[in-house]
Amino acid sequence: MKLKPIFAAMAAVSVFGAAQAAEVEVLHWWTSGGEAKSVAELKKMMEAKGHKWKDFAVAGGGGDAAMTALKARVVSGNPPVAAQIKGPSIQEWAREGALGDISAAATDWDKLLPKVVADVMKYKGKYVAAPVNVHRVNWLWINQDALNKAGGKAPTNFDEFFALADKFKAAGMTAVAHGGQPWQDATVFESVVLGVGGAKFFEDALVKLDAKALDSPTMLKSFDTLAKIKTYIDKDAAGRDWNLATAMVMNGKGGMQFMGDWAKGEFTAANKVAGKDYTCAPAPGTANAYTFNIDSFAMFNVKAADAKKGQADLAASIMSPEFQEVFNLNKGSIPARAGVSKAKFDSCGQKSMADFESTAKSGGLVASFAHGMAVPSATQGAIVDVIAKFMNSTMSSKDAVAALVKASKTK
Ligand code: BGC
Repeated sequence: MKLKPIFAAMAAVSVFGAAQAAEVEVLHWWTSGGEAKSVAELKKMMEAKGHKWKDFAVAGGGGDAAMTALKARVVSGNPPVAAQIKGPSIQEWAREGALGDISAAATDWDKLLPKVVADVMKYKGKYVAAPVNVHRVNWLWINQDALNKAGGKAPTNFDEFFALADKFKAAGMTAVAHGGQPWQDATVFESVVLGVGGAKFFEDALVKLDAKALDSPTMLKSFDTLAKIKTYIDKDAAGRDWNLATAMVMNGKGGMQFMGDWAKGEFTAANKVAGKDYTCAPAPGTANAYTFNIDSFAMFNVKAADAKKGQADLAASIMSPEFQEVFNLNKGSIPARAGVSKAKFDSCGQKSMADFESTAKSGGLVASFAHGMAVPSATQGAIVDVIAKFMNSTMSSKDAVAALVKASKTK
């Protein structure tokens, strides 16, 4: 991200904007049914505080299109007040001087947030972003009826997974509901790596980018497993949005989907109930691990007093127990902060909470690579390209491993 020259101009624009309305423009990519319901709660809270919410929604799961739109806006000297940015990208934007310090609104956050969450929200010890949730990525979503007919047991390893997939296929279903978009390919890939290699291997390979782990028989086996999964995906998957793949699992056209728990937001929005209409199970082989993906809003460097007030109120709203509860009930994720009642969360939510805590102790808690929590955005992009190419061609696992090693050096 090379943006430095434009920041002087940006600050000037912000000062110029000071006289205008207390409008809080927020960039996000939450446009699916469950996502839109979730973000509407934040809008409601900000309006209750007297702010005018200006929605800057850029459709596209995983946020690639949103990040492109954000860069364009910042380069033109007109950043939004806040933007959905996460993981190391927060540090990248902060290093460029783009983000503002919201520490004054965050005096008790160190006490309220797990360290693994707080660290991501800070730059040089100061809070520059506010966390809304913790998503777990390593889930498998299964149509309950189909599962019952196939024996009722969610697969705990890849042998059981492929046995179940064969049953779904024999029943005339698309065994694996998937959308052929690079970020979705990467989402499946990372759960496979976690299931095949375990949390330590995942961390070495996809967080630390350790060359030995990347260029290993375990990585080769991960690609072989991914290649086999490919054979259970329907031919119309190319370009399909993730929520349409979730809909396939809902209506029984599809058997199961590898996806983070924003998929639960879709089930919930469609009044589907865990344990009755669908099952949430850790992706095969990942019961003792947890790939975390924290959504957060980074605050841009605004000068106008009303915009600053908007940011402080946004930060306070986001961190309120009321918001963290209602937002996460809709979103499928769990609260990022301590002190939120667990009572209303369903069995998947409760499981996510319990597993987040237990894996934090056991070492099974790892940053999601596919969802921008693990490595710099340029490196992530290069690796995701390799995975997408593998998914869309006859590339061998051996060639994929070699390409992965090369892509991991991208800075
Ligand atoms: C975000 C989720 C979002 C999903 C699909 C993920 O990267 O963390 O909040 O629902 O992408 O758009």
